[in-house]
Amino acid sequence: MAIRMLDIQAQLVPIQDQLEAAATKVLRRGHFVLGEEVEALEHELATYCGARYGVGVASGTDALLLALAAVGVTRGSQVITTPFTYVATVQAVTHLGATPVFVDIDPQTFNLDAEQVQRAVGRRTKAIIPVHLFGQCAEMDPICDLAARRGLAVVEDSAQAVGATYHGRGACSLGHLGCLSFYPTKNLGACGDGGMVLTNDEELYQRLRLLRVHGRADGYFYLIDGFNSRLDEIQAAFLRVKMRGLREYTAARQRNAALYDELLADLPQIRTPYVPAHNVHVYHQYSIIAERRDDLREYLKAHGIDSAVYYPLPLHQQEIYRHFRRRLPVAEWTCQHILALPIAPEVVTTDGVRTVSEAIRAFYRK
Ligand SMILES: Cc1ncc(COP(=O)(O)O)c(C=O)c1O
Repeated sequence: MAIRMLDIQAQLVPIQDQLEAAATKVLRRGHFVLGEEVEALEHELATYCGARYGVGVASGTDALLLALAAVGVTRGSQVITTPFTYVATVQAVTHLGATPVFVDIDPQTFNLDAEQVQRAVGRRTKAIIPVHLFGQCAEMDPICDLAARRGLAVVEDSAQAVGATYHGRGACSLGHLGCLSFYPTKNLGACGDGGMVLTNDEELYQRLRLLRVHGRADGYFYLIDGFNSRLDEIQAAFLRVKMRGLREYTAARQRNAALYDELLADLPQIRTPYVPAHNVHVYHQYSIIAERRDDLREYLKAHGIDSAVYYPLPLHQQEIYRHFRRRLPVAEWTCQHILALPIAPEVVTTDGVRTVSEAIRAFYRK
């Protein structure tokens, strides 16, 4: 039997009835954009992540865009971030007319290297975006301390990290603002696009609520220049159903990860994910560093096992950001060696993890 990276339909089967009931409720109510489901979801997710406020928006990309706008990133600002992320992190910066400043990553966690962030701060720096890549938080204390000293905003890209914790505190509650994506493949995925910005700051919360509806207060009166970025009721209703199982779903990913860790531990050609003791990883991806990565991937494919490369080319080497000339060797090397294995509980459980691990061992025995 083939082992795929994802099977969203299989994920939905056990909750199909609940999803249909949620959709029917929204259809009968006839209120489709921002409403009681969105508000309830905002409260539930803020509580889940340990933040005070949530603002539902149209996507994870928009969550980042609105968060940056809320802290005053504009044309001419610089925003420090990682080149080893999904492109949306950086497009949120460029779409505001600001300039991304890429900083290299930590070779073990693949997240921003805090020391290098410090060296990159300049006169025009306005914000830092640590990305909690693959489901584990970046090293936030030094980043937040630096930001406090230099008057910078910290916007967490938690698109892959709902429920992850750092020193016991939730992703999205660590910086000034935290951004979630509900893209269907995410750990908490909608049946369409969606996103949310979380914050503990009442003033930022109020500004975000204006920003998502054109800067409109009541009626046709506009207080700031905003966007159209609203979360649909039907998506919020689906997400509320899925939230009921989110803890268990995350625990199943963590069990799969622990088994991979155990079964691959003694292979010298492989490095399994490094998780510092103060982090709880939610394994949006289980990404290993592998010798002869591309050959391994081919071998797995020939044995019916899918894998994926997140990401094959760091952003500073992409055509769109080619003006950023600096070398960032750790990110570049990581892109050549990283490989994500099937981790989602709807595609692998104990047997599946054993099959994948055995195939990896067989490849290196050859
Ligand atoms: C790290 C990261 N940031 C931002 C996003 C953008 O989210 P969305 O696709 O919901 O716009 C994603 C996922 O797609 C992501 O993985």
